[in-house]
Amino acid sequence: MSFWEKQRVLVTGGSGFLGSHLMRLLQAQNCGALIAPRSSEYDLVKGGEAERLIADTRPTLLFHLAAICGGIGVNRAHPSRFFYGNAMMGIQLIEEARKAGVEKAVIVGTICAYPKFTPVPFKEEDLWSGYPEETNAPYGLAKKMLLVQAQACRQEFGSNFIYLLPVNLYGPGDNFNLETSHVIPALIRKMEDARLSGAKDVVLWGTGGASREFLFVEDCARGMLRAAEKYHGAEPINLGAGFEITIRELAEKIKKLTGFTGDIIWDETRPDGQPRRMLDVSRAEREFGFCASTTLDEGLLKTIASYRSEHAK
Ligand SMILES: NC(=O)c1ccc[n+]([C@@H]2O[C@H](COP(=O)([O-])OP(=O)(O)OC[C@H]3O[C@@H](n4cnc5c(N)ncnc54)[C@H](OP(=O)(O)O)[C@@H]3O)[C@@H](O)[C@H]2O)c1
Repeated sequence: MSFWEKQRVLVTGGSGFLGSHLMRLLQAQNCGALIAPRSSEYDLVKGGEAERLIADTRPTLLFHLAAICGGIGVNRAHPSRFFYGNAMMGIQLIEEARKAGVEKAVIVGTICAYPKFTPVPFKEEDLWSGYPEETNAPYGLAKKMLLVQAQACRQEFGSNFIYLLPVNLYGPGDNFNLETSHVIPALIRKMEDARLSGAKDVVLWGTGGASREFLFVEDCARGMLRAAEKYHGAEPINLGAGFEITIRELAEKIKKLTGFTGDIIWDETRPDGQPRRMLDVSRAEREFGFCASTTLDEGLLKTIASYRSEHAK
C-alpha cells in the first residue's frame, strides 16, 4: 500500500482557493478516505465543532487550511474577526487532533506572520525577531500561535504536526472580489474590466514600491503533498518561488498580459503593506525536495484566463 492509500485524509478549507487545488491532487492519490467538509457542516470557530469533526471523520492525516483571509483592505476592516476566527479554528482543531492521536497534521501558516522588517530573503529562524506589519498583524499572529501549539504538542505528546509558511498565492480560482481579494486578482480584475469598458486609467493602491513574492497555487498544493509525505520536523518551512518583484513591475506586467492600454494611477493615500517580501526557500528544497516550477508569466496567463472564463462578461 502506498503512503496515501493508508491515509484517511481530512482537509479543512478544502473548498477554498488553495484547498480546491490541494483536493484535486489528493483525489489523484487514491487516499483511503478523503473528506473535506464545508463550514456550513462544521463551523470550526464555534466551540465543540472541531471535536465533532474529528470524532465523525477519524482522520490519520489532517491538512488544516480553513481560515478567514484576504487582502489589506479586509484585514484592516476586520482585525478582530481575523484574529479570533483564525486563532479559535486552529487552536481547537489542533487540540482535538492531538487528543484523538491523529498521526500527522499539516498546518498552513502565512508569510504575514513574519516581522515587518525581516531581512530579505526571509529565513524561518527570523520568524520571531519582531512584530508583523500592522495591516495584517492580527491575522499573521493568530496563525503564528498555531506553530507554537504544534511544537508544544510535539514536545509534550510526540505529535507529528508540521507547519508550512506559504508566500502570497495566486492562480485559477482565486478570489476576484475587490472588497476582499489579494493583489494579483485585484490587479487582473481592475485592468481587465478597464480594458473591456474602455476606461482610460485604473487606480491602484499604494506607491507601487513595495515588493512581493508570488507562488502559483498548484505549486503550493504540490509542496504541501510532498511535505505531508516526507517532512517530519518541528521547524516551520517556507513555501515560495524564490523571487521578488515590486508591485509597480507586477502591475506593468499584468497590464501587458491583459492588453490594457490605459494609464496606471497610484493612490498613495492607501497603504503599501509590508515593505518587502521574499522567502528563503532552501529549507523546503533540502528537507523534502520542493521547488516551484511555474514561472510568474505562465501563472499570470493561467490566472487571467480563469478570470476571463469565469468572471468577465
Ligand atoms: N491565498 C493566499 O495568498 C495565502 C497565502 C499564504 C497562506 N494562505 C493560507 O492558505 C489557507 C487557504 O487560503 P485560501 O486563500 O485558499 O482561503 P479561502 O479561499 O478564503 O478559503 C477559506 C476556506 O476556509 C474555510 N472556512 C472559513 N471559515 C470557516 C469556518 N468558520 N469553519 C470551517 N471552515 C471555514 C472555507 O470554507 P467554506 O467555503 O465552506 O466556508 C474555505 O474553504 C489559509 O490557511 C491561508 O491562511 C493563503
